[in-house]
Amino acid sequence: MYRFGVDYYPEHWPEERWPTDARLMQEAGINVVRLAEFAWARLEPRQGCFDFAWLDRALDVLGAHGIQAILGTPTASAPPWVMELFPDAFKVLPSGHRQTYGNRVNHCQTHLGFRERGKIITQAMADHYRDHPGVIGWQTDNEFGSTCYCPACQASFQDWLRRRYGSLDALNAAWGTVFWSHIYTAWEQIPVPLETGGVPNPGLALDFARFTSDVNVAFQQEHIDILRQTCPGHFITHNLMGFNAETVNYFDLARPLDFVAWDNYPRGFWNPRPEVDPAAAALGHATMRGVKNQPFWLMEEQSGAGGWHYQAVTPRPGEMRLWTYQAIAHGADGMVYFRWRTARHGTEQYWHGVLDHHGQPRRRYAELKRIGGELKRIGDRLLGAESRPEAAMLLDYDTRWAWRIQPHHEGFKYTQYYLSWFKAFHARNIGLDIAAPEADLSRYKLVVAPAVYVLSEAEAANLVSFAENGGTLILTARSGVKDEANAVVDLPLPGLLGRAAGAEVEEYDLLPGGVSVPLEFKLPEARTAEAEWWADVLAPGSAEVLATYAGQYYAGRAAVTVNRYGKGRVIYVGAFGGQPLQDVVAQWTAEQAGVKPALAAPAGVEAVTRWHGERKLLFLLNHGDAEQFVTLDGVYEDLLAGGRVEGALRLEPKGVRVLSEG
Ligand code: GLA
Ligand code: ZN
Repeated sequence: MYRFGVDYYPEHWPEERWPTDARLMQEAGINVVRLAEFAWARLEPRQGCFDFAWLDRALDVLGAHGIQAILGTPTASAPPWVMELFPDAFKVLPSGHRQTYGNRVNHCQTHLGFRERGKIITQAMADHYRDHPGVIGWQTDNEFGSTCYCPACQASFQDWLRRRYGSLDALNAAWGTVFWSHIYTAWEQIPVPLETGGVPNPGLALDFARFTSDVNVAFQQEHIDILRQTCPGHFITHNLMGFNAETVNYFDLARPLDFVAWDNYPRGFWNPRPEVDPAAAALGHATMRGVKNQPFWLMEEQSGAGGWHYQAVTPRPGEMRLWTYQAIAHGADGMVYFRWRTARHGTEQYWHGVLDHHGQPRRRYAELKRIGGELKRIGDRLLGAESRPEAAMLLDYDTRWAWRIQPHHEGFKYTQYYLSWFKAFHARNIGLDIAAPEADLSRYKLVVAPAVYVLSEAEAANLVSFAENGGTLILTARSGVKDEANAVVDLPLPGLLGRAAGAEVEEYDLLPGGVSVPLEFKLPEARTAEAEWWADVLAPGSAEVLATYAGQYYAGRAAVTVNRYGKGRVIYVGAFGGQPLQDVVAQWTAEQAGVKPALAAPAGVEAVTRWHGERKLLFLLNHGDAEQFVTLDGVYEDLLAGGRVEGALRLEPKGVRVLSEG
């Protein structure tokens, strides 16, 4: 059964309302809800006194309408009595200030007392619901990713370092603490990178980022151990945050889960955008598919305008449906919307759900119901389909953390740069996987590894052997700069990738904001692009020059090269630049590598494929406000409208087609 649901907070509403909610949900095709991830205070009102009666009644009401539940372990927001027990469990901010009560995730995840309370409530819920027919699975906590700088975390960081390095000599050597006389002579001297300490040693800062990720992963594992032991019949997932979140290594967080889920808000909130960026959402989906290399769920798909103290744009008619099918196109096998009804109280009283505060079904409910009806008919034909892109992008958390620690340039954002590479392929409807540094790359024709700044020997070997064995590899400036301790390598750049690139960085230059250098491409068709932020001046060895700089003292020197290496080739893009640069390189490289789009379609129409064995599913998504026509490449069954289609096909504004080959 395709799981179609909402995030539901029965504890926010009078019990008399629950049957109305359940009936409206059932009429909209809802068959699952996520419950209780913020209900600790109602489940354990006082230490050791548990109250499951209300949740049992809510599950009964839902069950009577054919709706089952995913329960959240409620540790992301602790009741006052828990925090009162442990005043030192409030987390410490980078400023050194200890938080006080009032928001959520106010706690420190290494605090033993807090963790114990978390295990107790998780165990109590697991014991109570292990055999409940209304419960199908669990969500651990909520959107992991907290960082804490408290003394307890500092002590665990020191232990973590002791395990990693074994001796202070090894640590001092790795971090190069001789610089500024930071040589540590006792583990207890090692600080956490508080703002009050100024700009930290890059080795220390990267290890603290790794430690923070491990703390989150270990906190989750305590809940997973309990749930696996007590509820073997239930699945366990977590709601991740797509591509943009970066405090936790999602490959590690995802490993012990049955599948991952994520929270997708295409209309933004923290930085509301007047226009939705479909590529950014697609990158989120691809990342979530990539962390386990399997289909995923949406645990919070946007259904209304976001808002805390400010407010964002409300989803336009048709967008909920469009985003739903976009998610499914990229691998979503479950769809849960945030939230059922907009809360009257609390910090999120303007974070809108399917229903507004008044609870009456309106436009967004009607859209939900339409989607629910559709997925009831066709959902089973989509479940479990495989995504098989011919190209991939490498995602390396060490590299992301190191970029956060040293962004190089005020105007340069690594995540934006990464997105612009993804976009260059996405705009051409070339599917991309997001792959771990150690992933088996042999199934791809093309791999993009944007600015892999921290490069381990194993990762370098993986990339090099991909090219050697016939793959086409795109590397960029600032690759292979650092070793795993975040120390700069003592080789000419791009370090361990130099031989494969067939070119050396002779020197490099930073381009201040507003300064750009035109590039001249040696390609048959005229192309224009510019270097911004950064310019590697390349000395090609075995590589051919694809583009040169047309300005600065390095005018005429190589900026982009391509090298035949083994059975494959390596493109080295020595300049950082905006979208046009990535577009030129992506288009040329995809042609060279023989990577094909899912379908040639007009701009703004996204075409994505999934596969059931040899049978192709083709998703067509019109993100624009004008009708579009696409020309199909074969005969398809139109799963939503019914009947066979071929040739030219009309897509209405925000329109969707789900087609099955044959
Ligand atoms: C996140 C959280 C939800 C809610 C929404 C909206 O995704 O998981 O609990 O806070 O954002 O803010
Ligand atoms: Zn702490």
